[in-house]
Amino acid sequence: PLQAVILAGGGGTRLWPLSREEVPKQFLALSGKESLLQGTFRRLMPLCGDRIRVVAGERWDSQILHQARQIGLDGEGLLLTEPTGRNTAPAIALALAASLDEGLDETTPLLVCPSDHVIDDERAFADAVEAGLEACDDGRLVTFGIVPDAAETGFGYIRLGRARGRWREVSAFVEKPDAERARAYVDSGEYLWNGGIFLFRLGDMAAAFDRHLPELGALMRRGREALLAAFAGLPALSVDVAVMERADNVAVVPLDAGWTDLGSWDALYEHGDKDERGNLLVGDVLAGECRNCLIRGDGRLVAASGVEDLLVVDTADALFIAPRGSSQKVRDIAESLRARG
Ligand code: GDD
Ligand code: MG
Repeated sequence: PLQAVILAGGGGTRLWPLSREEVPKQFLALSGKESLLQGTFRRLMPLCGDRIRVVAGERWDSQILHQARQIGLDGEGLLLTEPTGRNTAPAIALALAASLDEGLDETTPLLVCPSDHVIDDERAFADAVEAGLEACDDGRLVTFGIVPDAAETGFGYIRLGRARGRWREVSAFVEKPDAERARAYVDSGEYLWNGGIFLFRLGDMAAAFDRHLPELGALMRRGREALLAAFAGLPALSVDVAVMERADNVAVVPLDAGWTDLGSWDALYEHGDKDERGNLLVGDVLAGECRNCLIRGDGRLVAASGVEDLLVVDTADALFIAPRGSSQKVRDIAESLRARG
């Protein structure tokens, strides 16, 4: 039966001031209801029941358990705690090691999901996973591909190969190309974005680690405890660069399910439920004669009057104001703050 591994140990800076190193995006209720992590749980529960694991650092344990229980997921066996963040390759190796320790059959399919995006159409997602299982039967490491709508440099790009029924072979996987290449890929029509979700048989990904990351692969084979003991000294590597770019058995299933990574305030505005004036208001907000604004309060009242196309995000200790369309600049703010210490 299908098992899920949710990666929830990443930090976030693009939704500053709401997401900080202290509270990354996956734990936040961005649209005012449930968190992205909770949305991920909900999407996976019909497919995997309680065979769901979350890999993250210890300081998130209680947060994760609390959020799971809130939506009726038992916390038993949920946490797979890593001593420190080493990016996604070691996090996935930890999940593989734990599964091997437990004696799971090598043919067991694992669905590895990030916790930092939204999928509107859960039915379409479930169908895509089913199609992906067919590719797993062919020994593939399966990705889910999104039709790109901009030359984003923050995503992996998947070059489509031969069609094989409901899935396609992948002839190249390129993680975060520069702007020029991203443009060329999008214009060619031959590439999809990598949605960041992976599906594979346990044995196939373990073999890919053996081959492409032999040191990490060997630790993984020695089991969870051995891997944990060495964890802090491991190099930080993303699975995209360390495994997916190098593997020759990658497949892709197109995913048309309203996927968005909500990576910016602008993306959140586009995705959210707006009122008849085009305002997306969250929290205690009074917006008189405002149009097409995102205004977000957090605790105290925020009042705006007569403004248009603004992003306003208030938190207890910082206030962010910018014109809509410029929210990628938040990254610069977060960086200058880090430099300031
Ligand atoms: N446990 C754990 N430990 N989780 C981690 C760590 C870590 O050290 N680092 C990141 N994660 C989690 C993040 O919380 C997120 O849910 C997921 O792993 C992916 O990491 P990101 O850091 O968000 O990756 P990305 O957005 O730069 O790129 C990935 O996702 C894109 C789609 O959103 C890649 O897979 C790209 O190819 C893809 O296009
Ligand atoms: Mg991400």
